Amino acid sequence: MAQWVRLCAVEEAPQPGKVMQLEAQGVDVCLANVNGALSAMDNWCPHRRGPLGEGWVEGDRVVCPWHAWGFEVTTGNCPEEHAHVDIFPLKTEGGDVLVDIT
Ligand code: FES
Repeated sequence: MAQWVRLCAVEEAPQPGKVMQLEAQGVDVCLANVNGALSAMDNWCPHRRGPLGEGWVEGDRVVCPWHAWGFEVTTGNCPEEHAHVDIFPLKTEGGDVLVDIT
């Protein structure tokens, strides 16, 4: 069952091409805006736990600021490195951005 929790207000969400690190009930989330579409993924890079929310957007990926592994915002995959981060379902409701952290 989904557990929707508030991440931030819509107006606080990153602008297109930007990412930010946020916390929702103890879960660290990387919130990205790719061409106007928001997406949420686990904030911690599976390589050496770099903070993806301090990285950047490149194409359809969030790039880790430490060693530049890029994770697709739709799948969480980094095919070149056979790595993956969890993607959190996301929705906006009543002016808030909500994520399902289950
Ligand atoms: S910690 Fe993310 S690429 Fe190395």
